[in-house]
Amino acid sequence: MNLARFELDRLAAMIRERCGLRSDTDDGQALAAALDTRLAATGSPNATAYLTRLAEDTDEFQAVINLITVNETYFFREPEQISFLVRRARAMLADRAAGQPIGILCAGCSSGEEPYSVAIALNEAFGADARRLFRVLAVDIDSGALAKARRGIYGERSFRGVPPGMRERHFHRHEAEGWALDPAIRASVEFRHVNLLADPLGELGPFHAVLFRNVSIYFDAPTRRQVISRFADLLVDRGCLIVGAAETLSNDFGVLSLAEHGGVFFFVKGDETARRPPPRPRGPAKSATAVKPVRPATPPSPPRPMKRTRPSDRQNTPADAVRLVREERYDEALSLVDGWPAGPGRHRIRAQILFNRNEPRLAEREAEAVLASDPWCVDTLVLLAQIARQRQDAEKALHWLKQAVYARPEAWLPHFYLAETYRRSGRFERARREYAVVVQQLSASEASSTAALQFPPGVAPADILRLCQRNLEAITVEQGHGA
Ligand SMILES: C[S@@+](CC[C@H](N)C(=O)[O-])C[C@H]1O[C@@H](n2cnc3c(N)ncnc32)[C@H](O)[C@@H]1O
Repeated sequence: MNLARFELDRLAAMIRERCGLRSDTDDGQALAAALDTRLAATGSPNATAYLTRLAEDTDEFQAVINLITVNETYFFREPEQISFLVRRARAMLADRAAGQPIGILCAGCSSGEEPYSVAIALNEAFGADARRLFRVLAVDIDSGALAKARRGIYGERSFRGVPPGMRERHFHRHEAEGWALDPAIRASVEFRHVNLLADPLGELGPFHAVLFRNVSIYFDAPTRRQVISRFADLLVDRGCLIVGAAETLSNDFGVLSLAEHGGVFFFVKGDETARRPPPRPRGPAKSATAVKPVRPATPPSPPRPMKRTRPSDRQNTPADAVRLVREERYDEALSLVDGWPAGPGRHRIRAQILFNRNEPRLAEREAEAVLASDPWCVDTLVLLAQIARQRQDAEKALHWLKQAVYARPEAWLPHFYLAETYRRSGRFERARREYAVVVQQLSASEASSTAALQFPPGVAPADILRLCQRNLEAITVEQGHGA
């Protein structure tokens, strides 16, 4: 059917007003196709009559929404964010009120791959305790996607980001449709139909973390701000909001503070610096937080054990180990490097693995062993600075970062951390200088300055560039109040 522009505009306005979705991302094609489909399905005489009905008929409106939402998703999308969430979950457990589960909201969960990834990761980290310790709520406006999510059966495409062995541990073959999720994991996620823009959210919370990934791209700036403010109301103090890595800066409205940890950017309610747990007393304990009842990293009786990569598989080069670390296959990476003779290469990778596993004290020991034979190893100097930053020890962080800059002045990452550390400690002029260096380096070449690093950060250099430019502007204001 030929649709008039004004009819499409009327539909676009209705959708934008009720649920925030823009239709300009594909020139309104999805909208036109949806309108065509629904006109035929309802036998409406014309678009004007249909639109009049649509204004009143909520079921019909839902049918349109189900046609126009973009549901693209897969398991373990942006896995470094999921790992960050698990690391933070440990710290959140230490902070929570006794007996209260940690609330995690997946906002815009589509067909469930995201919240189930969270549930699987929590299960792998905390075992059967995860269900008692965490409450995962997943919401979406698309009732069709939610129905699929509740079934928990997925085809191959949903697994394109899944670490090896994970699928075999938590899914079983489903005759016709692919893979069915373990019923216990499925039951650990609650799904609800929610319009993030318009439905009351208050009774859903409170939450310690909100994942709002790959949804805000379909909203305009005022809608994004409105939704972020709604999340801010749902978050506990120092709760965090995680958006897709590419969406970070477009959601930075100053409603929540932007923070970074281990290369993952996120927003936090209140003061992030207040949330670090106190340093643990020296001792053999493994986890960075003192959460006694939790046994980390023991998947509950896996149906099929994960195939481990061992040196005997002929994958035992440093490049293999680095790849495993980047894929967050830490146990495999550790067993691989432990087969190597002692030396800086082994210590260097062990340091990174232990840091990523939130074992800073052990990581520090490995890092010191690296520096004993290779005092200018930039990865290790940056790692030590990150550990110092975690401990709120700005002077120590600056010490390591200055050495890293001295060792490799062309690498932007140490400059970036220097800028951040200076800024946080109120030394705005120095921060400004370092941000300017990063801007200059990244404007010249985004790739080359991290080429020297074995473990570059997970965030896109283009985002760092924009962040630094924005911080340079903000510093002018802060300088008025600071140093
Ligand atoms: C591209 S998917 C993102 C899925 C998942 N978060 C991920 O990152 O893989 C976007 C989802 O946002 C949902 N969505 C869009 N507008 C919404 C709104 N106003 N309220 C709730 N969900 C919404 C869509 O239905 C869709 O399922």
